[in-house]
Parts: sequence; structure tokens; C-alpha cells
Amino acid sequence: MVRISVSEACRRLIDEEVVAIPTETVYGLAATLEASDAVQRIFVLKQRPANNPLIIHLAEPSHLVAYAKEIPPGTDALTAHFWPGPLTLVLPVVTNRVPEQVRAGLPTAAFRIPRHELTLAILRQVGPLVAPSANLSGRPSATTVEHVEEDFGDRVPVVEGGPCTSGMESTILAYRDGLWRIARLGALSAEELEPVLGYRPALYDGSHDSSPLCPGSLYRHYAPKAKLVLGREPYTGQLSVVIGYSDRQYPGASTLLTLGPSSDPDTVAHHLYDVLRQLDRMGLSAAWVDLQVGHDGLWAVIRERLNKAAVET
Ligand code: TXA
Ligand code: MG
Repeated sequence: MVRISVSEACRRLIDEEVVAIPTETVYGLAATLEASDAVQRIFVLKQRPANNPLIIHLAEPSHLVAYAKEIPPGTDALTAHFWPGPLTLVLPVVTNRVPEQVRAGLPTAAFRIPRHELTLAILRQVGPLVAPSANLSGRPSATTVEHVEEDFGDRVPVVEGGPCTSGMESTILAYRDGLWRIARLGALSAEELEPVLGYRPALYDGSHDSSPLCPGSLYRHYAPKAKLVLGREPYTGQLSVVIGYSDRQYPGASTLLTLGPSSDPDTVAHHLYDVLRQLDRMGLSAAWVDLQVGHDGLWAVIRERLNKAAVET
């Protein structure tokens, strides 16, 4: 693993290299917006389909106007409340200002300001960065430098920024037919967005029809190699490997991987990807996951991630 300082990261990014960077959500695989070879290398490294666009990370909300064709109502309130932070906004852009490969040919682009001092320092020095999550396509996102190393070895230098504080990807909002919609559930819940928007944004991720607002939701996601069996009933020994909660008992389980207390979705979200990756590190082939948890706030997000991780290909 090649760990580099902020100044070395800036030098390499300006040199059009790919660098892994920390954010409050998950680690990202970054390149500068205009470095087309490096952006292409991100798709190759991740084995990411070319029709899945990348999020553009900015240092300042005022930088949006350089790209946006329109600023939908509510944008200023959202950015004032939640940036820097785990909120991504999809906006119509002036297409010749955002390279086509970044947008995957769409007339829109996704923007956010991450809340991590090291990455903000890099953004201030080198300008906008594109950064998808620093994992191989389909795998659980990387929330520590060790996770980045699991997927990319020493092919990508990393700025070490500690474990990601949230550990869940940003929430993506897109404006459609006069309302902001949730294109991807994430660290910021619908309940937290409601007071700022004046309404609770609905989920519109393509799970109800075939036209998701977010191309990434077409793909299998967040999945370990191990098969996950989602437990909606109490545990009765269905599988000997259990992913569960520190305040519950699983009599008969031989291996228990704990996500945290069942009363604390922040802690559970924080540990989720590490626990999924741990299954593979331990060479386990299947696990039963305790899904007897809430439905609101971050629980909705945790449920969605586990549902996607459990889909078999
Ligand atoms: O928390 C995060 O958002 C992390 C950190 C690194 O910032 N990034 C991240 O990127 O999760 P990625 O590439 O793993 O997921 C980005 C998602 C994809 O599902 C993609 O389809 C969607 O954003 N997306 C990007 N541009 C879009 C656009 N113009 N319209 C709709 N969805 C878009
Ligand atoms: Mg991702």
C-alpha cells in the first residue's frame, strides 16, 4: 500500500494520476475533472460500466454556477444546510463544461462537497475532482484504507484519513417534475431533508420502474462473495454464521459478526461494509443477517444496502 501526504496527492492529481481520497462517507478514487486518461483509468480500475457517471467533488458551493445550466428551487437551501456533507445534487449542466465520460453522456452531472479536512485541502489546491467509491464495481464500498488496499493493492496511492465517520455513501437528490427526489438512499435520511425542503422527498430509484434517476442503481451492489440470507424472523440456527447486533443473542451461532447495538443505526451503518468485507476475509461462504430492525431514517438505508448485497447474480 502506497500512502501519500496531501501535498503528494495534489502533485500526482495535477500530474493526471489516480489517487484514493478519504471522505466522511466512503473512500473515493479521484482524478481531476479534465484529466481524461486518469478518468478513463478509474473506470478500468473499478471495472465500472462506462454508462455509470461519476460524482464531481467541489470545494465551494459557489463553484456550481460554473457548470450548472439551471439551479432548481431549493438548491441554495440544501447546499447551505448540508454542504460540506453527505448530500449529492444532480443538476442539468452546460454540457461542454463537464466532460462526456464523467456524465456518461447524460445532460446532467452530480455534485457534492465532502466533509473531510484532508480532501477539502486537496480540492482547494487542485480544483474539482471526480470520485466514485474506491471499491471494485459491485463490492462493498471502502470505509478504511485497508479496504481500498483489498480491492486495488498498490495500484492506487491512498491519502490516509482514518475510518470514514459515516461509512455510508452520500444521498443523491435529483430534481424532476417540480420536486427533489431521492435517486439513491444514503447517509442523509429523507426525514433529515424534510424540514429544509418543506416536504419529504420520495424515493425514485428505479425499483418501481425501469428508468432510475441514478444509472448506478441498475447494477448489483455492496455485495460480498458470501451469500447473504436476510433474516426477517427470529434466529433459529438457520446458518452458523450470523451478522447481528451486540445487544441480542443468537444461540447456536458459531461465528457472530456484530454491527453494533440494534438501537443505534449510525453505528450499524458505520460498520456495515467492514462486516460484509470481513466475511470474505474469513473465507466464509454464507451468513444469516438479522434484519429485524426499524424502517425509518438510516434503517431504511441499511435495509436497502443489505437487500442489494443479498441479490444473487
Ligand atoms: O458518498 C459518495 O457519494 C461517494 C464519495 C466518494 O463521494 N461516492 C460515490 O460514488 O458513492 P459512486 O460512483 O460509487 O456512486 C455514484 C452514483 C452512481 O450510482 C451514479 O450512477 C450516480 O451517482 N450518478 C452520478 N452522476 C449522475 C447523474 N448525472 N445522474 C444521476 N445519477 C448520477
Ligand atoms: Mg459506488
